[in-house]
Amino acid sequence: MADLVDLRSDTVTKPTAAMRRAMAEAEVGDDVYGEDPLVNALEERVAAMFGHEAAVFVPSGTMGNQIGMRLVCQPGQEVLGDAEAHVVTYEMGAAAAVFGLSTRTVVSEGGVLSADQLISQVRPFGNWHLTPTAAVAVENTHNRAGGLVQPLEELEKLFAWSRDAGVSVHLDGARIWNAAVASGVPLDTYGRLADTASVCLSKGLGAPVGSVLVASADRIAEARLWRKRLGGGMRQVGVLAAAGLHALDHHVDRLADDHSRATQLAERLGVDPATVHTNMVVLDGVAAPMLAAAAKGEGVLVSEVSATRVRLLTHLDVDDAAVDRAVEVLAPLL
Ligand SMILES: Cc1ncc(COP(=O)(O)O)c(C=O)c1O
Repeated sequence: MADLVDLRSDTVTKPTAAMRRAMAEAEVGDDVYGEDPLVNALEERVAAMFGHEAAVFVPSGTMGNQIGMRLVCQPGQEVLGDAEAHVVTYEMGAAAAVFGLSTRTVVSEGGVLSADQLISQVRPFGNWHLTPTAAVAVENTHNRAGGLVQPLEELEKLFAWSRDAGVSVHLDGARIWNAAVASGVPLDTYGRLADTASVCLSKGLGAPVGSVLVASADRIAEARLWRKRLGGGMRQVGVLAAAGLHALDHHVDRLADDHSRATQLAERLGVDPATVHTNMVVLDGVAAPMLAAAAKGEGVLVSEVSATRVRLLTHLDVDDAAVDRAVEVLAPLL
């Protein structure tokens, strides 16, 4: 097991020794009473990083996304987004099942956000026949599009349009840190182009649990109500906030290492490095189940996205030796 190379996701990271120390030493309080000092510090810090008034710590990216969308969309209204977006693909239909939100999707060019395409699909309020579009969901980086960084000018165009149109923008920023490191666009620039944004500490940043939803103070007050309703009111959760704060201090800039290892992995596996945007490598046109099983037999875990597509992610627990080992195992299988 010691030599296992796990490239399935950047969610598989284990807390580092330093992160565990920070967790062990965390001062805690009851967060449902608003008395956990590190949760309060984390929320304030993340809100400021993204240029928003307030934030709330939630257990998962899924909860952050779903509450975020509920804040800007009422039951019976719709959220418009990409057909491959996490919020409609991997969140178990929560928008409909939990919140009564309708979702509608557009098929984009490889996951790249096109403001014009989304705008052309928005349905107005006040029409007796149409489900009104209250919000647009944006994903940056785009997971199923191979860690794609969304073009800033499209985000800007969409947001500028949305102000006049009365449509809100929700950002699924599970990997917004990767987008910022890869593009050089500041986090608060991305944050200011959304009304609600969910950002994850448990992906590339390497914390074991936790996401943060940012928005206006009023919306975050409402988000706290939804979080409690969903059973997400947590108590002495400073141990997890400590991990998140440690990750913000130590694990953001190093994402550049993950990105360069992903590029190396692609090059050495004969994949066009231009298809690597951040920390993901997509192997297309492969017999995914066979490849995954054979690689697993050699101690390299990969993710099957479809019958013909495999995904490899670099992260905190993938060092140069792990890249070498992955190449040694995967190259002969391709
Ligand atoms: C783009 C994206 N959004 C949201 C999530 C949901 O995060 P969680 O697994 O913490 O619910 C993920 C999880 O991998 C993701 O990739």
